[in-house]
Amino acid sequence: MFKKILKWTCLVLGSLVLLGLLFYFYASFTVAQRMERKYSFAPENIEITQDSALLNKGAHLAVIKGCTDCHGTNLAGKVMMNDKALGRLVSSNLTKGEGGLPANYSTSDWVRALRHGVGQDGLPLLFMPSHETTLLSEQDMAAIIAYCQNLAPVNNPLPVSDLGPVTKVMTYFDKMPLLSVEKIDHTKPMVANVENVEGAAFGKYLAVSCTGCHHANLQGGDPVAPGFPPVPNITRSGHVGNWTIAQFIQTLRTGKTPEGKVLSNDNMPWKMTAQYTDKELASIYEYCQSIQ
Ligand code: HEC
Ligand code: HEC
Repeated sequence: MFKKILKWTCLVLGSLVLLGLLFYFYASFTVAQRMERKYSFAPENIEITQDSALLNKGAHLAVIKGCTDCHGTNLAGKVMMNDKALGRLVSSNLTKGEGGLPANYSTSDWVRALRHGVGQDGLPLLFMPSHETTLLSEQDMAAIIAYCQNLAPVNNPLPVSDLGPVTKVMTYFDKMPLLSVEKIDHTKPMVANVENVEGAAFGKYLAVSCTGCHHANLQGGDPVAPGFPPVPNITRSGHVGNWTIAQFIQTLRTGKTPEGKVLSNDNMPWKMTAQYTDKELASIYEYCQSIQ
């Protein structure tokens, strides 16, 4: 009798392991197919001037849009993550140095990357948040591109990305923003300009950079990845609803909330939000207060 039970337990466990493995192979196969799909978009050009006002704006945007967080302070790329479960994730060297963008990387290649999330070869860019950069105004995009095209070349050859099993399975369940190309409405035309005027409308435009973690409605939710804290609601119905504009700005500059919570920069990138201007933070505050 006992032997029989043991035999059945082994059989059941064995089949479960086998099913798990089969599922894993299936999931990683479909994710690989999505990564190998080629996309083609009509080349788009925007006018890039080299005046210093535009370049300064581009430098500011490169910081507040997180380009320097992921691509490194000199934008020469880096290994962002390297572990067994998640794999190796590498951001591109955006300069024209060794290991950087090819000499023929044109303005329309820049626009394709930022608007559509695909590279010069038509393959999806991995983990590049193009579903956010696609919402940039033409003027802001021009500023970022102008700034990046003027970067001093940095020699920094990098290894290629190599995704781990957890990343593949999370992508399969749509729990990780690996393939932004799939999330973009590619027919949506670019907005020419968003007026730099304090208020909720400007705040909504800027808050696109918060939606990746705080969700489209800014109501927060599950952690962005296993091991991270849950993401708080930052609309009027969350703590922010009780804060003054000065307290909001103070929180996003110092990482300390009026309730006394200390935000780690690894979870909530306050060193990045600290770089926003007063006008930008006040606008985001007004937008947060206008929704719940
Ligand atoms: C969350 C991290 C992250 C942020 C934020 C980010 N990038 Fe990226 N970006 C990446 C990664 C990773 C890649 C490499 C994609 C690949 O190799 O498939 C990449 C690729 C690119 C490419 C394509 C280059 C090539 O090799 O074809 C461009 C252009 C680019 N990023 C520009 C920007 C700019 C400009 C910003 C700021 C507006 C920005 N990125 C913000 C992670 C990021
Ligand atoms: C990379 C993910 C990420 C991004 C991007 C991000 N946040 Fe957060 N934010 C978090 C997490 C996670 C927490 C909670 C941290 C904790 O509990 O330690 C948080 C906390 C906060 C808090 C404190 C809320 C409270 O109730 O204590 C505010 C305010 C906030 N974020 C505003 C913003 C704004 C505004 C932006 C965009 C400009 C932004 N965040 C972008 C992940 C993010």
